[in-house]
Parts: sequence; structure tokens; C-alpha cells
Amino acid sequence: MNGPRLVVDDISVIRVGTPRPVLNQISLTFSSHELVAICGHNGAGKTTFARTLLGLCPVAKGTISLNGRPVHRAGQRQIQMVFQPPSAQLIGQTIFEELAITALQSNPALTRSQLEQFVQDCALRVGLLAPIHADVHALSGGELQRLCVAQALASDARVLVLDEALSSLDPATRTSLRHQLRDLTVTHGMTVLMITHDMEDVLSADRVVVLDRGEVRLDAVPRDFFYDGAGQTSPCSSLGFHPPYLVEAAITANQKWGTSLNPLTEEQFVEELSHVPVP
Ligand SMILES: Nc1ncnc2c1ncn2[C@@H]1O[C@H](COP(=O)(O)OP(=O)(O)OP(=O)(O)O)[C@@H](O)[C@H]1O
Ligand SMILES: [Mg+2]
Repeated sequence: MNGPRLVVDDISVIRVGTPRPVLNQISLTFSSHELVAICGHNGAGKTTFARTLLGLCPVAKGTISLNGRPVHRAGQRQIQMVFQPPSAQLIGQTIFEELAITALQSNPALTRSQLEQFVQDCALRVGLLAPIHADVHALSGGELQRLCVAQALASDARVLVLDEALSSLDPATRTSLRHQLRDLTVTHGMTVLMITHDMEDVLSADRVVVLDRGEVRLDAVPRDFFYDGAGQTSPCSSLGFHPPYLVEAAITANQKWGTSLNPLTEEQFVEELSHVPVP
């Protein structure tokens, strides 16, 4: 069973100059192996939430703990964030330097050859295929994003937070990185929190949390976010998000044929359609 990992208990964040709390009494528990999409309109408090997890925003009240220890004592390295743009967090000259610096912080005893092997493994695991001695400034946006995810692996972080980190990537790279993130939850037991406006990201998540004006508006599995019980409407629309094409197509089919299709992947859609009697 997946135990609780990151427990956010009743936190509120107040910013000078804003009339209401930017985060207001947020309580959420995230488990290991969980891939969670965090959505919300502009100004909902998503980035503030991420920064608060990293200890960058002082909380007016509430606590955050990781595996039972207050986050400030658990060590911030256990929670890593991937920013947008990714270059904002890079300090090394090459892929090797970037990952080696991070790895040495958690394990200073690594030899040069162990480091080379470790860096190579981290890069491969996130599908970063450029040579490890390549200059980071010569990498594409997608390669930089992969490098940042590899950095989280090198640090042995338990929680990875991505703040719209996939938003500027081409669809193929985005899909590939989604798979890599899923893989991190399965093989490393990582908790991945993906802040996103992209409903395709939500389709690939285990769970979706919607923030609205600093409060948790919804905490649900993607199926309940995209389909009401009868599959006739999409709750995500009433929350102001545009459902993905797949969901729209299934709901249109349900309205027309009286079916209750609720697929989250194209394969599921094809499978569910195959059981619908030909009208
Ligand atoms: N340093 C700050 N000082 C004062 N107010 C702030 C500060 N940072 C954020 N805010 C306010 O907090 C609210 C939430 O901002 P935040 O950046 O967390 O939203 P967001 O959900 O990430 O939005 P977006 O989708 O645009 O990135 C906004 O109203 C913003 O103006
Ligand atoms: Mg933001």
C-alpha cells in the first residue's frame, strides 16, 4: 500500500497587498507513487502552493510534513521543483557538471567513474540522449526539461513539483516526458505534482486537484473530473476548463446514443465503443 508521504495540513499564506489569503486553509495528502495534476485559473495560487512546499513562502498557519517530519527539517532536497523556463535553475556548464554537482551534494563519496555512470543512468532514465559532456546552452527546450527532471533523480528527491514545465514543449516531447514522469512514480515511488493548464496532462494523472482563489475546489480522480456519473456532461467544463477532444467525443456519443462511455485514453475509447450496439 502507498503510505502518506507529503502532508499539507491547513496551511494559509498571506501576501502583503492582497486583500484575501493567497492560500486559504489548504489540507492535502500526497502519497508515494502518485502523479497528481494541479489545475486552476491564473492567480488561483498554484505557484504559491509549489513555492510553499519548497519552504520559499512563509505560512501564516498550518504545517507541511514529509514522511512524518516537518518539511524544514526533512531537508529541502527531498522536494525538487522544475521551473519554467528550465534554464533558470541550471548552474553547470555541461550535463555532466549539472547532474554531478547535484549527486555529490547527497553522496560526496562518489568517484569520477561512479559519477560518470550515475549521470549516464539518470540521463537515460528521462530519455536525455545528448552526450553527457554536451554544453547545456546547446540543448533544446525539451532536452533542458529532461535535464531538470534528471536533476531531481540525481538528488534522490522524493517529491518532484513541475510548475507548467511542459507547457512550451512540442506535443511529442510532452507525451514522452509524461511517460517518463509516470515511470518515476512507478519505478522510484516518487510523488510527482504537475501544475498544468493542459487537460491532456490531467488525463494522464492519477488524481486532479483544482485550486480556486487559494482554496481547494476539487480533489478527484480524472474520470470524475471529466465525466458526471451518466457521462452526459463534463464537470471540468463547469469549473471553466475546456475538456480534451477525447472527452468531448465520448460525451457527444453518450448524448446521442444514451451510452455512458467514459474513456481516458484512445484505446479505452475504441474498446468501449466496441461494446456499443450498432444504432
Ligand atoms: N510576491 C507576491 N506578492 C503579492 N502577491 C502575490 C505574490 N505572488 C503572488 N501573489 C498573488 O497571489 C495570487 C496567486 O498567485 P500565483 O502566482 O500563485 O497564481 P498561479 O495559480 O500560479 O497563476 P498562473 O496560472 O498565472 O501562474 C495572485 O493573486 C498573485 O497576484
Ligand atoms: Mg503560476
